Amino acid sequence: MILITGGAGFIGSNFVLEWLRDSGNSAVNLDKLTYAGNLENLALLEGNARHVFVRGDICDRALVEQLLAKHQPGAIVHFAAESHVDRSIHGPADFVRTNIEGTFILLEAARAYWDGLKKSAQDNFRFLHVSTDEVYGSLGPNDPPFAETKAYEPNSPYAASKAAADHLVRAYHQTYGLPVLITNCSNNYGPFQFPEKLIPLVMANALAGKPLPIYGDGMNVRDWLYVSDHCSALRTVLARGRVGETYNIGGSNELPNLILVKMICALLDELHPKSPVTPHKKLITFVKDRPGHDRRYAMDSSKIRRELGWKPAESFESGIRKTVQWYLEHAKWVANVQSGAYRDWIALNYGKR
Ligand code: NAD
Ligand code: DAU
Repeated sequence: MILITGGAGFIGSNFVLEWLRDSGNSAVNLDKLTYAGNLENLALLEGNARHVFVRGDICDRALVEQLLAKHQPGAIVHFAAESHVDRSIHGPADFVRTNIEGTFILLEAARAYWDGLKKSAQDNFRFLHVSTDEVYGSLGPNDPPFAETKAYEPNSPYAASKAAADHLVRAYHQTYGLPVLITNCSNNYGPFQFPEKLIPLVMANALAGKPLPIYGDGMNVRDWLYVSDHCSALRTVLARGRVGETYNIGGSNELPNLILVKMICALLDELHPKSPVTPHKKLITFVKDRPGHDRRYAMDSSKIRRELGWKPAESFESGIRKTVQWYLEHAKWVANVQSGAYRDWIALNYGKR
């Protein structure tokens, strides 16, 4: 049994689905169901007694304590966060609350729970904090990829809030001995990503014949990793990672945004020639840049590869083709997210919040 936070979001839901599919274990899934949480992502788990979904806030300490006492998890895997950089620029307060205060509350509850465990359970317990490459700042064109030793230089309110959370998690190990693990991962892509992020946004707009907005000159570089490969890295770190350590996770797939968007357009030309506007690249539109836009991210994941034997299963070519196909086959999922229909069921089931 593990406690997962944020398991109705993009990466969390992929992780929960794989966890229940591939292990005989169970999961309690604590998610506030913000705009980014979508129970449709977990539809496959309906009726599965090994998945216990709880709608709630990680900032609710009493609830977290109650869940820990009741389910006695052997680990906490912490995904819950406000995750979108653009939103953090427009409204940083939620990022400070969930990403910093929420992580602090979770750590406090975890520490109290862990203190009360028997020695053997204490030794086996893990607090896995899922973080991002953005804490390291921005790279120049010739800089080496981020290693775990790189100083933190977060540039957006989102990145700063994740950096603060990372520091708290580290401190709880150093000070209290809580058996923590931290992972910092590069940009994920794949099924169930909210269409505010570049790849699903481009696909949704392209299929609707709408402009594909490229910030600035389109030459900002991201290092893309297929979401299942991130999930397999997290399972690996959970199983074999050294307590107190940080592991960087990346796909070594650096691409400028403009090239990436052109690749998606070419795939859509091939797989969906009936779009309102083809070739899809005609829709590419340069727009005002994101303030503080980091120029380049790249991850050095040699530590997790060397120490834990992890490597990604997907190449970028295979992963992006699968992803484009998934979004084409799940037009209803995209339409429900865009229309807000996915929230109707949440309101019906849990009441409006
Ligand atoms: P997401 O925005 O898709 O999902 C976040 C989930 O957290 C949602 O289900 C939301 O309802 C839930 N949540 C938000 N606030 C909450 C709160 N106060 N209490 C409980 N639940 C809450 O995010 P994602 O892209 O799946 O990212 C998951 C984690 O991975 C985040 O911590 C993010 O920083 C990290 N990460 C993401 C990427 C990426 O490329 N998406 C890369 C590296 C790391
Ligand atoms: O690097 C890991 C991070 O990746 C995660 O920690 C974040 O949670 C996740 O949102 C993601 O952050 P990015 O800012 O890199 O992702 P986003 O999809 O918002 O943008 C990817 C790149 O595309 C970035 O350089 C900005 C650019 N972009 C984005 C959007 C939404 C555009 O050019 N146009 C757009 O409309």
